[in-house]
Amino acid sequence: MARKMKILMVAPEVTPIVKVGGLADVVGALSKALVESGHDVRIVMPKYSGLQQVDSATPDAQPLIVQMGGHEAYARVWRTELPGSTAKLYLLEHNQFYGATSVYTGPSGNQDDNAQRFAFLSRAAIDLCEYLDWIPDVVHCHDWSTGLTPIYLNTTELNKPMGRAASVMTLHNMEHQGWFHRNLVGYAGLPDSVFRSDGLESMGEANMLKGGIYHSTKITTVSPTYAKEIQTSDGGGGLHHLLSQRCKDLVGVVNGIDETEWDPKVDTLIPEKFTVRKLGGKATCKAALQAAYGLEVNPAVPVFGVVSRLANQKGLDLLASIGDRLMAEMHIQVAVLGTGEPSLEHDFSELANRYPGRFGAQLRFSNELAHLTTAGADFFVMPSRFEPCGLGQLYAMKYGTLPIVRATGGLIDTVEQYSEKRHSGTGFIFDFATPDALYYTMGWACSTYYDRPDDMAKLRKSAMSQSFKWDASASLYEDVYREAVAVRQAAFVAWKAES
Ligand code: GLC
Repeated sequence: MARKMKILMVAPEVTPIVKVGGLADVVGALSKALVESGHDVRIVMPKYSGLQQVDSATPDAQPLIVQMGGHEAYARVWRTELPGSTAKLYLLEHNQFYGATSVYTGPSGNQDDNAQRFAFLSRAAIDLCEYLDWIPDVVHCHDWSTGLTPIYLNTTELNKPMGRAASVMTLHNMEHQGWFHRNLVGYAGLPDSVFRSDGLESMGEANMLKGGIYHSTKITTVSPTYAKEIQTSDGGGGLHHLLSQRCKDLVGVVNGIDETEWDPKVDTLIPEKFTVRKLGGKATCKAALQAAYGLEVNPAVPVFGVVSRLANQKGLDLLASIGDRLMAEMHIQVAVLGTGEPSLEHDFSELANRYPGRFGAQLRFSNELAHLTTAGADFFVMPSRFEPCGLGQLYAMKYGTLPIVRATGGLIDTVEQYSEKRHSGTGFIFDFATPDALYYTMGWACSTYYDRPDDMAKLRKSAMSQSFKWDASASLYEDVYREAVAVRQAAFVAWKAES
């Protein structure tokens, strides 16, 4: 059997402790899957205020000393396990930085202090390992907020035990990079030499994601198509040159889903469970969904569901802009769940006011309603402008809710286009992020629903029979870790020979 590894996850959010986006789901579910394969997985994250899932955590008596530049800072370490797993979870208490409930805004209410908040997390992750006397084989970082950790490993830690650890950086979303004033370097206690264009510097500022990418042993992103897109000027958020240079070290691994939470067979949050063979419960879910959104309870009308952050990335302005046309031309219902940009929230609530019983909007976050919408709808609308992986479409397919997606990133890699000729596919895909393209694709789905019920049944069955289990993705991550460890060890031998 392959050697078991010691893996440290460094992350700003982890499901089910606290979640802003899909990153949290990935860290939680991947950690669980790796533990099940026998690895020693530990997770470090901030202890934000009001975390209910960690009531069982216990604080250490002595503080963790964190070596920031020119000063020592302290964190209190709280220990527990990731719920539903034996992965060890370390929560860092630091009231000035993490004493608010929000992840990406600290108690000051000012995002400028994210430089300090996440430099602290990046550094504390390293100091924690020494404090625990536990040196990981791999440190797995997630997005910009953990970007300094690989830089420390390559600089301040080189001649210390932690310098042996390999690093892996997973890119969940290139839109957020963590740009800060260059004085971040001194604050973080990094050598000035890291502030250069082949490193942390970008247009005169410090870019945490760039530094992290540059210094990581291996880089992953969350789908093969996104791995290609980020090497182009359109998708790379200014970092495409760096990513192309490192293309040999970059792989795309599609996210899995946590099937203990998202599977109609076992889902406890929906009114009736169902399976691909016994679909009856889906009708119960549809009726409950219609009631929850104030829609006419009618099994014959197709429901198009949305569960999303209402952000530019997700392309839901396209849906809002065709709302009136859809209602005028098609015999359908729409149910939108999400929060985000105020102008979009406004547009959707106006549509709901104009079309009572046909257009429903719930502008809030509710995990229960997310499950009900995913389970009860006939179609799942996801017109993303870009989508590194996307989880919503995976959940939807699992529940036999056919995704309608734009041809981008992980959406292409996971949804198979409907073919009327072959009666095959798992969803509906369109190319251009335009209102018309979405309108005609929803029209296509609508006509399939009414005119080709046999195809609907086939697509639903194919969608539900897909496997999105984490095991397969987790084993690809294990390969990446092993390669990273080998590369790091070879580099280490070379450095020793030089010095
Ligand atoms: C980000 C991406 C999303 C991806 C998730 C988890 O939220 O926008 O596409 O599924 O991270 O990797």
